[in-house]
Amino acid sequence: MKCLFILLVCVGLSDGLIRVPLQRLKSIRQQLGEKGVRLPLSDPALKYEPYKFLASAVVDPMANYADTTYYGSIAIGTPPQTFQVLFDTGSANLWVDSDYCNTQACNAHTKFNHTSSSTYSSTSQTFYLPYGSGSLYGIFGYDTVNVGGTVIKKQMLGLSTNEPGQNFLVAQFDGILGLSYPSLSVGQATPVMDNMMKQGLLEYNAFAFYLSRNGQQGSEVAFGGVDNTKYQGQIYWTPVTSQTYWQIEIKGFSINNQETDWCSQGCQAIVDTGTSFLTCPQQYMGYLMQAIGAQADQFGGYSVDCNANNLPTFAFNINGMNLSLPSSSYIMVQNQGGYQFCMVAISSTYLPSQNGQPLWILGDVFLREYYSVYDRTNNQVGFAKAI
Ligand SMILES: *[C@@H]1O[C@H](CO)[C@@H](O)[C@H](O)[C@H]1NC(C)=O
Ligand SMILES: *[C@@H]1O[C@H](CO)[C@@H](O)[C@H](O)[C@H]1NC(C)=O
Repeated sequence: MKCLFILLVCVGLSDGLIRVPLQRLKSIRQQLGEKGVRLPLSDPALKYEPYKFLASAVVDPMANYADTTYYGSIAIGTPPQTFQVLFDTGSANLWVDSDYCNTQACNAHTKFNHTSSSTYSSTSQTFYLPYGSGSLYGIFGYDTVNVGGTVIKKQMLGLSTNEPGQNFLVAQFDGILGLSYPSLSVGQATPVMDNMMKQGLLEYNAFAFYLSRNGQQGSEVAFGGVDNTKYQGQIYWTPVTSQTYWQIEIKGFSINNQETDWCSQGCQAIVDTGTSFLTCPQQYMGYLMQAIGAQADQFGGYSVDCNANNLPTFAFNINGMNLSLPSSSYIMVQNQGGYQFCMVAISSTYLPSQNGQPLWILGDVFLREYYSVYDRTNNQVGFAKAI
């Protein structure tokens, strides 16, 4: 473990690290909210989930919450065509908008023109990805993909053929690059990370995220190791408990240093860059909002009086480490039509419990506080205090 830690640091210092800068932009939901379209509160990244989960996902709709998502550039094909993609640790497929698709949502984005790429090869395999609000149809093909200057050959990618509905219309991304384990991959497409590993493109089979706070620049995903300019102190590790999502165990949860019994029998958590909020097991949501003194608001979420002080600090016990979240991490000041309010960026988890244990989703709220490392060689997740 120690050796691994040293190795990762060494890799971080070397030239082998592949860095992709990420931009922090308004989320789809916020932009749709501005147009009066409401999406479920529980589905921040419009993540696709099996239908049985979606059916129960219609919690409270929300409107104009200014949450964010993080996108970066990749290039596909020869000569390269550039796309903005959401780097998502909560899904496994790569897909982009394509010129097979002529809906409004596709036409509003950069579309991949497969006929102009000399390295493209087609398949007849189609796919369907149901999202919280809307859906995506597509066809798989293979092409060269360039991520941060590293070239992945024969990457299976989804080309959209139909994007009905409005949800992708306002998205600032042209596609999604999934970074979870291959078991979640629709159509058994080999994920980008797995091809990077197979093609020997990485010095170390890990990637890591830094998500900036307060609208600052410098967010990035790094492949092949860690970027030690983006965190302070030590990286603490915890094993992956299910090789699907980046799923880990939570051994305890405390509010202002008072240990609750919520995770005394263990909880599970998914570490998900594609979810904006922190999500809490449904059975504890009420208690948590009470501890914050939050009130349900007209937007279907929770907010607090902006003058409230002494809001609680939460702490997760993850493999014996104490990872705390101060109120500054989960309260977001929102301005809407001259009216200011303080939103609680916590929602209840829409996925069912995992391994029989309550499930949390450690989304961007958590990941802005902690630099996160996803290690495929040792199947573990590392956290360090973000700069
Ligand atoms: C795609 O590329 C081909 C070949 O370069 C070109 O003829 C065609 O017009 C392009 N399609 C679009 C929609 O731009
Ligand atoms: C956890 O960390 C927080 C913030 O650093 C600190 O206030 C708290 O005392 C710690 N709790 C434990 C149990 O170590």
